[in-house]
Amino acid sequence: MRVLIVGSGAREHALAWKLARAEGVEELYAAPGNPGMAALAHCVPIGADGIVELAEFAASLHMDFTVVGPELPLCLGIADEFARRDLPLLGPSRGAAEVEGSKVFAKEFCQRYGIPTARAEVARNRDEMARAAKSFGLPVVFKADGLAAGKGVFVCRTADQVEEALVRFFEERTFGVAGERVLVEECLEGQEVSFMALTDGSTVLPLASARDYKRLGDGDQGPNTGGMGAVSPASFPQGLGATILRDIVYPAVNGLAQEGRLFRGVLYAGVMATAEGPKLLEFNCRLGDPETQVVIPRLDGDLLPLLQAAVRGELGSLRVGWRREAMACVVLAAAGYPNVPRRGDLITGLGDALNLEGALVFQAGTVIEDGRLVTSGGRVLSVIGRGPSIAEAVATAYQAVAHIHIDGMQYRTDIGKDFA
Ligand code: AMP
Ligand code: GLY
Repeated sequence: MRVLIVGSGAREHALAWKLARAEGVEELYAAPGNPGMAALAHCVPIGADGIVELAEFAASLHMDFTVVGPELPLCLGIADEFARRDLPLLGPSRGAAEVEGSKVFAKEFCQRYGIPTARAEVARNRDEMARAAKSFGLPVVFKADGLAAGKGVFVCRTADQVEEALVRFFEERTFGVAGERVLVEECLEGQEVSFMALTDGSTVLPLASARDYKRLGDGDQGPNTGGMGAVSPASFPQGLGATILRDIVYPAVNGLAQEGRLFRGVLYAGVMATAEGPKLLEFNCRLGDPETQVVIPRLDGDLLPLLQAAVRGELGSLRVGWRREAMACVVLAAAGYPNVPRRGDLITGLGDALNLEGALVFQAGTVIEDGRLVTSGGRVLSVIGRGPSIAEAVATAYQAVAHIHIDGMQYRTDIGKDFA
């Protein structure tokens, strides 16, 4: 079989790592891939947002299966583009991907189907935003409507932070069209969990539990990022997973189907476990990054048959098993991340890190220049440790991190410490 992975991050590297081992996968392609994936797959220089070009490439090679990592091609309609050519691809249709592509759509969708979530108002200009913020009081949360790579959310606890957010949205217009509408919402308190489930549009297969660490700094300080680390399993409180499935995931999958928005792929629910029960923070229409890096290696058995069954609408008969080991991921980010990540910094020590028993490194913002591996984006590497417990997995991940050097690199030193 020929399999194509769309994307170039550590999540896609983790998928390539798993799929390269799969029975029956003879040729693996990645578009555009990264230097780490190049060891496992043929990298093709087509950007993840080139959905027509990707479909034409897949058609020309009679690609047997395609899996999409990032949200952008899904929101642009890559699933529809491939479906038109009868090419099997795992990922929601453009209509279904709107649960991530528009936070305003997602909020109204939740309201239509009674999915518990924070109260919210939509603001279209500075005055509306300021007025809504005042009516919610502090703390208050602002979210860019459109895609913002995990950086379009502001949790404001002081009047100064509110003022700064007003400036970012409606003076500097940091988020362009994505920020033309802003969701102003009530701030929820509680433990945050990431819930990912593979679905064929009706059956839902939950993936192993994971938690990610969104803030840049230790102790959940600093700005929101795409994710600075993750652990799996995430030991949810008793019954939480079942409640999330019943109150959030199934109503969402059924609601989308009812509206003719075909969702075959991974639905990710970012959930706050509040005193009143789980409430949705956000939907993603894809696997989480960095959650995937700690979940996929724990999968017992092959990934591909599961993904194929989801595309065929035949998930009902399948079971999925997870290894009892734990995994931890520490993200190494470039200097300047999340604002303006510095490019071109030399990356050293990967070989030593990889030699460590139980360590893995998945690449993201890397590129080879003049024969040297250097930084090319914000989140540069996902360094993974595996072990019999979270504490041991975390220890291995940090031992691996200690071998790696990138000038100005940023990482959290408290990943998984809340589980130890
Ligand atoms: P999102 O991209 O919507 O998940 O938001 C990014 C992060 O902001 C989440 O992981 C939460 O930590 C935080 N966040 C988002 N919405 C809220 C909310 N209503 N209350 C408290 N924190 C939130
Ligand atoms: N880790 C959160 C996300 O993938 O959006």
